[in-house]
Amino acid sequence: MLDWEDIQQTHVIRKLRTILGQWFKVDLFFIDASGQIKNIDFRDSKKEYKNALSQHLMSREFSREWLSRYFIEQTPLLSQAPELTLHRVGPLGFETVYFAKVMIQKEYQGTIAAFCLAAIDAPEDLLQAARLRVVTAGGNADSFNLSIKSLKVLDKSEQKYSEELIDLVAQEVVTFHTEIAKRESRITELNQQLETRYSYHQMIGKSKPMQDLYEVLDKIASSEATVLIQGENGTGKELIAKSIHYSSPRKDKAFITVNCSAFNENLLDSELFGHVKGAFTGAIKDKKGLFEAADEGTLFLDEIGDMSPSMQVKLLRVLQQGTLTPVGGTDERKVDVRVIAATHRDLKSMIEQGTFREDLYYRIHVINLSLPALRQRKDDIPLLVEHFLKKGCDSKKLPQKVLHQKSLEKFFEYPWPGNIRELENEIERLIVLSGNDKEIPVDLVSQRILAGVSGTGPLKSLGLDLNGKLKDAIEELEKKMILEGLKRTKWNKSRLSKELGISRAGLIMKGEKYGLDKRKMARDDQAA
Ligand SMILES: Nc1ncnc2c1ncn2[C@@H]1O[C@H](COP(=O)(O)OP(=O)(O)OP(=O)(O)O)[C@@H](O)[C@H]1O
Ligand SMILES: [Mg+2]
Repeated sequence: MLDWEDIQQTHVIRKLRTILGQWFKVDLFFIDASGQIKNIDFRDSKKEYKNALSQHLMSREFSREWLSRYFIEQTPLLSQAPELTLHRVGPLGFETVYFAKVMIQKEYQGTIAAFCLAAIDAPEDLLQAARLRVVTAGGNADSFNLSIKSLKVLDKSEQKYSEELIDLVAQEVVTFHTEIAKRESRITELNQQLETRYSYHQMIGKSKPMQDLYEVLDKIASSEATVLIQGENGTGKELIAKSIHYSSPRKDKAFITVNCSAFNENLLDSELFGHVKGAFTGAIKDKKGLFEAADEGTLFLDEIGDMSPSMQVKLLRVLQQGTLTPVGGTDERKVDVRVIAATHRDLKSMIEQGTFREDLYYRIHVINLSLPALRQRKDDIPLLVEHFLKKGCDSKKLPQKVLHQKSLEKFFEYPWPGNIRELENEIERLIVLSGNDKEIPVDLVSQRILAGVSGTGPLKSLGLDLNGKLKDAIEELEKKMILEGLKRTKWNKSRLSKELGISRAGLIMKGEKYGLDKRKMARDDQAA
């Protein structure tokens, strides 16, 4: 839709309108596709109209209606007319109206109509007929006569100039509209780019490392190159591999996953490349491998760091030549497969140790994606928590649950060695344990998370000295665990003793030994 109001306000159009009005006494009318007059000053002022004829037409209510009706009548003719500029005889029967059609993408958008008197000697009977029409419509014959006298008659060259200028107005309208449309779509595009993305396909995350990742994923969406995805356990390597496949040109073909660490060398060989009948005991018929099954699609080689050196050689050959030989076979088969590989291992150091081939490494890491560990993008924790809470509650048909603020704080402190998967499992566990409670209480959160240490993580993060006597260290740990537990369970010794797997009496004894007295500690806390 054209914005006729904005169009008339543009500097170029205003200038052209002034020139046409002052020099040639030509008045412009902006007519939309339905034939409505869109002049912003049409209702209010006749000052803008330089041509005595249109001044006259504008001077009375009846004339405006007349003019309006005239344009509506002309519209079907105009929208079908092939030329850009037409001349017609105007509503009074003797004046000239130029029409310059406005077409955008082959659609009729409206017309610029220009009133003037082209070099005619208005024959007296034409004028007489016009005068009659004006008077019949309720107009004044005297003022009509005056208007006619003051009309400017354009000579041939003036006619040519004004024709060009009118055409220019129509072109400017088109340019203005297309420029605006272009600018608007650019603004939307920029907005989308600037907008923080909270997710990408199934991946959730709005942190900087995730935004950077999404940007790379956008860029490689249409690429066919091999991709190497590196990241710790549970960082979403498989999720990314799928999202790459489903945004690639191969999305309608197969996506096949092979976990290289799940097979021994011989099995992986036949799994990937297939085998011919009789290749080994149990090979009772020819079997296609996953490379062939993934033909024209994507093969996701998970845990590629666990591939044996001889398999690495075979893989390299397929990647370089695009052909493979099934186990026990002799003929080469052609395959068109995009490979995405993933590993949690440090391939660079494996190359140094000689356990991963450098040539294969360079062949697969054409595009290299490093997934951030969850502890490197803690900003995403609330978003992920919400996502998994919703997912878990929805699947169990439970009302939406929320996490207690304290638990969220603990989640921030915890290093998440198992990354997203560990977080997902923890939420799943909390949903089950919290039963019908809407808010999940903090004391249900796993012990290791409350303590802020991973099960396998270093004791150092607990502030324990790893040097010195073992007995001292154990006592220190015991004291810390009991203290944490007492605070967490609000000094519920029965519950804590169960959790710690000791008797209640045993817990009380240990509490006394370490001087963990509820009142004394509350006083200390207050004093602090
Ligand atoms: N950014 C994310 N947003 C939402 N869910 C995620 C995200 N990343 C991973 N997940 C979820 O976490 C779980 C683990 O992801 P995935 O299996 O892709 O990780 P991985 O790196 O392949 O793990 P592993 O190294 O253990 O094989 C999956 O359930 C996955 O859906
Ligand atoms: Mg995986």
